Amino acid sequence: MKIELAELFPSCAILVKADRAMWTTPLCKEEEQLIEKAVQKRQQEFRAGRHAAHQALDKLSAPWEPLLRDEKRQPLWPTGFVGSISHCRGACVAVCAKANELASLGIDVEPLEPLPKGVDQYIHTSDDHATMAADSALPERLIFSAKESIYKCYYPLIGEHMGFQSVSLSIDADTMSFDFIPSASNTIPFPAELKFHGRFMTSESHLYTGCYLTSV
Ligand SMILES: CC(C)(COP(=O)(O)OP(=O)(O)OC[C@H]1O[C@@H](n2cnc3c(N)ncnc32)[C@H](O)[C@@H]1OP(=O)(O)O)[C@@H](O)C(=O)NCCC(=O)NCCS
Repeated sequence: MKIELAELFPSCAILVKADRAMWTTPLCKEEEQLIEKAVQKRQQEFRAGRHAAHQALDKLSAPWEPLLRDEKRQPLWPTGFVGSISHCRGACVAVCAKANELASLGIDVEPLEPLPKGVDQYIHTSDDHATMAADSALPERLIFSAKESIYKCYYPLIGEHMGFQSVSLSIDADTMSFDFIPSASNTIPFPAELKFHGRFMTSESHLYTGCYLTSV
C-alpha cells in the first residue's frame, strides 16, 4: 500500500511541508528572538517549522500570533488549536487542527536511513525487536520515528517526559498504521478516554510518521 503524506491525518488536519524559501526567510521579531544565539542549521530548521505551522494555521483561519514555546520546547499554539512540527536534514513538516476536532497530534520526519549503530537497543523494547525482525521491509527508523510522534502527541496533554522503553509498537504494514502498548514498567498516565491513531509513509528520501487522538 502507498499513501500520500496528507493521509497520515484526517482531512480536518492541515499538513504543510516547508518549501525552500521557508528555511531562510526570517520570522517575526518574537520568534527570531528564540533563535538569535542558535547556529545557522538550527535557525533554518526553526524558521521552516514556524513558517509551515503559520501556513497551516492560516488555512484553519486561526488568529495570527507568534508561535512561542514552553521551557520543554513545546510550541504554544493559539487557543483552540493543536499542532506538531518536525524537521530533519532536507525535510520539515507542520500539522495543525482545531482542538474541538482533534485532541492532540504528533508528527515526525526522519531520513530513510538506518539508525546509528547500537542506538536501537535504547529505542526498541524486546517486543519492538521482534516486530522489526518479523518484517525486513519495514523502514529501519520506524519505531524510533513513531515513538517521537507519540511523545509529541501526548506531551501537551500529560506534561511528562516519556522514555523510549515506555511503550512497544504494533505495526500493520498493510494499512501503514501503528498503535502502541504501554510496557509493564510504564508509569505514564495515557488518557483512556482518547483513542489513538497512527500512520506512516515513506518518500524516496524520508520516513514520516503521524499520530492523533480523538474522543472515543
Ligand atoms: C522532543 C523530541 C521528540 C523532538 O524531537 P527532535 O529529534 O528534536 O526533532 P524533531 O524535528 O522531530 O522535533 C522537533 C520539534 O518538536 C517540537 N517539540 C519539542 N519538544 C516538544 C514537546 N515536549 N512536546 C511537543 N512537541 C515538542 C518542537 O516543535 C520542535 O521543533 P522546534 O524546536 O523547531 O519548534 C525529542 O527531542 C525528545 O525529547 N525525544 C525523547 C522523548 C521521546 O521521544 N520518547 C519516546 C516516547 S515513546
